[in-house]
Amino acid sequence: MTTIKVQVDKPGAKINPAMWGIFFEDINFGADGGLYAELVKNRAFEFPEPLMGWTKISPSLARGGISIRDDGPFAPANPHCVRIQSEGTAPFGISNEGFRGLGVRKGETYHFSAQIRGVTGSPVLFVQLYGADGSLLDSASLGEFPSNWKKYTATLRPNDTDAKARLALLVEGKGAVDLALVSLFPEKTWQNRSGGLRADMVQMLADLKPGFLRFPGGCIVEGSVLERRYQWKNTIGPIEDRKLLVNRWNYEFLHRPTPDYFQSFGLGFFEFFQLCEDIGAEPLPILNCGMACQFNSGELCPLDQLDSFIQDALDLIEFANGPAASPWGARRAAMGHPEPFNLKMLGVGNEQWGPQYIERLVRFSKVLKEKHPEIALVSSAGPLPADDRFNFLWPKFRELKADIVDEHCYATPLWFLANSHRYDNYDRNGPKVFFGEYAAQSVAMVSTKNRNNLECALSEAAYLTGLERNADVVRMASYAPLFAHVEGWQWTPNLIWTDNLRVYGTPNYYVQQLFSLNRGDVVLPVTLAEVELPAVPGGRIGLGTNQTAAEFKDVRVTRDGRTLLSSDFSNGTPGWSVESGNWSVKDGAYQQADSNATGIALAGDASWSDYTLSLKARKLGGSEGFTIVVRYDGPENHVVWNIGGYQNKFHGIQARLAQQDHLVAQVPGSIETGRWYDVKVELKGSRLNCYLDGKLVQNADVPPPQTQRLYASATRDNGAGEVIVKVVNPGNDATETKISLSGVSHIEPEALAIVLAGDNLHDVNSMEQPKKISPDESKFDKVASNFTYSFQPRSMTVLRIKAR
Ligand code: AHR
Repeated sequence: MTTIKVQVDKPGAKINPAMWGIFFEDINFGADGGLYAELVKNRAFEFPEPLMGWTKISPSLARGGISIRDDGPFAPANPHCVRIQSEGTAPFGISNEGFRGLGVRKGETYHFSAQIRGVTGSPVLFVQLYGADGSLLDSASLGEFPSNWKKYTATLRPNDTDAKARLALLVEGKGAVDLALVSLFPEKTWQNRSGGLRADMVQMLADLKPGFLRFPGGCIVEGSVLERRYQWKNTIGPIEDRKLLVNRWNYEFLHRPTPDYFQSFGLGFFEFFQLCEDIGAEPLPILNCGMACQFNSGELCPLDQLDSFIQDALDLIEFANGPAASPWGARRAAMGHPEPFNLKMLGVGNEQWGPQYIERLVRFSKVLKEKHPEIALVSSAGPLPADDRFNFLWPKFRELKADIVDEHCYATPLWFLANSHRYDNYDRNGPKVFFGEYAAQSVAMVSTKNRNNLECALSEAAYLTGLERNADVVRMASYAPLFAHVEGWQWTPNLIWTDNLRVYGTPNYYVQQLFSLNRGDVVLPVTLAEVELPAVPGGRIGLGTNQTAAEFKDVRVTRDGRTLLSSDFSNGTPGWSVESGNWSVKDGAYQQADSNATGIALAGDASWSDYTLSLKARKLGGSEGFTIVVRYDGPENHVVWNIGGYQNKFHGIQARLAQQDHLVAQVPGSIETGRWYDVKVELKGSRLNCYLDGKLVQNADVPPPQTQRLYASATRDNGAGEVIVKVVNPGNDATETKISLSGVSHIEPEALAIVLAGDNLHDVNSMEQPKKISPDESKFDKVASNFTYSFQPRSMTVLRIKAR
């Protein structure tokens, strides 16, 4: 029977109170169109198409003109304004479509404001809200405009709720007015701050009780080129001084272009610090380190010009922590916060890699550590959790005695399940880990088909038990991305989904919340028995090439003297499927003719194991040899014998297991062009024997990804006097489990059981069913030092047990 043993009297590492946090980036309408409650899109007419988001309203009797001007601007950072000139024959003007509509609620108050100057005549300006069906929701009028800029305000109270309202500005009477910085905010923002944040969205963050808030990204920190990087100094002070910047997610994905996505910076660094304070999260700003996004231009600031980037970091520390009398502290105080924000951590670069990053990090660290040893620096380990970039960086971080290393991971649920022991063997004395961006991808990274389903949430939960067990090494973790608007997203999955009026948490959100609200103070050792699931090393077979043209014939797969497959290609290629490359049958051989292609053709069945694959192969041209695929269980899970790989200098056994690449074995060797080779691969359990022309060339043991029936961690909440046991059962069967708590003198029989579960691993939450997958609480009254508990199928369970 499955057992879980918790050693209550052997407390281990202290858990960082800031362990479970959040990562905010303005992606998917996260800030503009999301958290920042401004309802008017392109309020300052600064988009490159200055009337984007605005439409002329010109009933047939109306005569007039709309023009964009920049003479005598109200604010140099936002120089444009719109001129509405009416002949006075009928009301004439423009309307704003908001961010996929303006979301307004019946009876609530909305504050309109604009800078206005009169140009000619004495017209009246009507400010009106219309519903999606054209009905008037409320109206206000303004008049007597001076020739110099003056701020006007009006209050609107819509008579109906509408997620897709429009804001109309109509001039009545002959004359012309100029308008700049046109704004509409709900009165009910978070903490009712004027020009503030959407209360329902912040509430979702506050309900996570996050330990930290990492901001402002993400790739927007880097910019696709340096000129378009995030510069915090442009995001503070009066909003009219904050200059618009195109959002990199506007154009990043050609499959999800969002041409109306810009950063107004209404939510800027001051507001981020204030938000941290409001929700009790440690601020973790991430700054550009002199590198543009390495997935884009990778533009570098030359090392001898890095000083201004480093100075930005020093000034930020002063802005956050300096006395109100210091130059940057005074800027903070002028914004209404004379007290410091108590910044303790700073990220140098977002998702960087390579020697260029190290060169820049070293320079940042030298100055920052000298001037601010109290600030812990966060370094980036690149975009993936175990690739060459990652492997290059980690030893450097050890050498540099880095404080905290930010690891990122977007991977399949299988990766998360198979890697829950990742940190068990990390160096206890090296840099600490921040698992700063992660999310299980139900299909594949950046696939638009990814869903925030229960399977992904539980695989993350299983993995997080490993983080908690290793809380001495892993000091912080955050899911990414955080927010997505259902009509404005570029990336999925995301933790929280919104529309203009609603918001819901995904199953992944509730996993985060269960960890955060049930954190505990110290780790308790946990031992599991009989949890390993049988892992069968099997899968389809395949033929392949890498930058090479080659042909194959007489392919046979046998098992225990039985033939599973025999292909001489005389009748074509029945049973074969092409993944990539230019394949056809020529003269009785199956040929991949493109010498620049990575070709793969597959055959057989995913259930095949313990087989022998034999074939003949001949290289036709190109730079390498050929590849033989075995145990193919999808692009993220297979083993390849690469014959004459690595520029035709080595043979190698390579595995991609649960999305992670391993070079398992390598021997020198090459392949001659034009010569037929006899190839044989024996698969015996997880062992591979690889033969060329009858000679054993290589062998290796390649265990398949190991997953478990149950995953668990335990902590103790000293204040509450409770042992907190977290158990994840990602499978489809209930699991009866013996739980033993050793080293306790008193246990209360009744415990609180909080369970997150669902009927189907593909279940998701939605606007219509926002809490379909959400935690349920109940009492369990059979707790003792040894007791049995049945963990529900597809569940995460938190048991809070009163014990001393
Ligand atoms: O979370 C989405 C993106 O993924 C982040 O901007 C970036 O840091 C990572 O590549």
